Amino acid sequence: APDGLAATPPMGWSSWNKFAEHIDDRTIRAMADAMVSSGLRDAGYVYVNIDDGWQGTRGPDGELRPNDKFPDMKALADYIHGKGLKLGIYSSPGLKTCAGYTGSYGHVEQDAKTFARWGVDYLKYDLCSGEWQYADADTVMRTYYQMGAALKATGRPIIYSLCQYGRFDVASWGRSVGGHLWRTTGDITDDYKKMSEIGFDRNPKFAHAGPGGWNDPDMLEVGNGGMSHDEYTTHMTLWAMSAAPLLMGHDLRTTTPDALKLLENKEVIAVDQDRLGVQGALVRRDGAVEIWSKPLADGSVAIALFNRGEIDARVAFLPADAKLSRITRVRDLWRGKSTGSGPVKYSVPGHGAVMLRVAGKR
Ligand code: GLA
Repeated sequence: APDGLAATPPMGWSSWNKFAEHIDDRTIRAMADAMVSSGLRDAGYVYVNIDDGWQGTRGPDGELRPNDKFPDMKALADYIHGKGLKLGIYSSPGLKTCAGYTGSYGHVEQDAKTFARWGVDYLKYDLCSGEWQYADADTVMRTYYQMGAALKATGRPIIYSLCQYGRFDVASWGRSVGGHLWRTTGDITDDYKKMSEIGFDRNPKFAHAGPGGWNDPDMLEVGNGGMSHDEYTTHMTLWAMSAAPLLMGHDLRTTTPDALKLLENKEVIAVDQDRLGVQGALVRRDGAVEIWSKPLADGSVAIALFNRGEIDARVAFLPADAKLSRITRVRDLWRGKSTGSGPVKYSVPGHGAVMLRVAGKR
């Protein structure tokens, strides 16, 4: 987007996947603390996003106030900024949000100003209350444009996340309404079936992704416990290959060493955050294995070998998968070592993934 925001996919944490409505000021502060002490902030995760459930009622002046679990939003924003982090918040264009809290209907400009005054850096705007079910494409676009324009008018740089589940081909107009990311699917859940359906099959609209505007296959479930380590490896690999926003969704205070390894791997994050901003895609199938490729700014190529089957597979990637005539260097990103550049076969466990960064000759 011309505003220079989200030049690479946003990274951070959001409250919904783990806590749903059970959030309060103390929990959010604790997440900010844990983001710093775990090293996740320094790995690039900076947004601390309060999802649905913070809203109270409107005051006599129409101003939206937080509920009593959030005594002072401005103070919370200051606390988060003091840690080198950024604050995200959530609203809906309807009278009510998805979880039934006060929405921005009739108060769009006022709410944008309120958020800016608190020091909010990110807004997720979620279109799911009943009255929108039958809305046409035009109404939905205008609705999103209105908040986008209101955020811009505040003068504060605020990332604008559209959440309407990929309806009306949002990827093709998300940027034009001021959006920096847009959900492409329904909600993720903490299981391999849903994660892989979203990541492999439902998020292929790669043409519209790029610096300033990203397809959003929803937040991460890594660390929540519903998938095996191999399955979470697939989740993280798939999101990084897809140049997806990396918004963690677990309790950061209890991140296991295994989860931390997946979330903090610098070379994997570098693929997601590559400044070329190309969303990777499937290039070849080999039985249950999908080979994906993502071109990178330095001319190298990220290659992922995903095994969607249940039994271990042995697969080699081909130079052509990376659009190269010859491979000169291969780095295995999860194992953190360089491997031979010949036709090496990699073992990919069932539901698991191998992620490589390869260089070579065109
Ligand atoms: C929708 C969104 C979720 C979350 C909830 C909150 O389901 O898709 O990500 O924000 O609403 O109510």
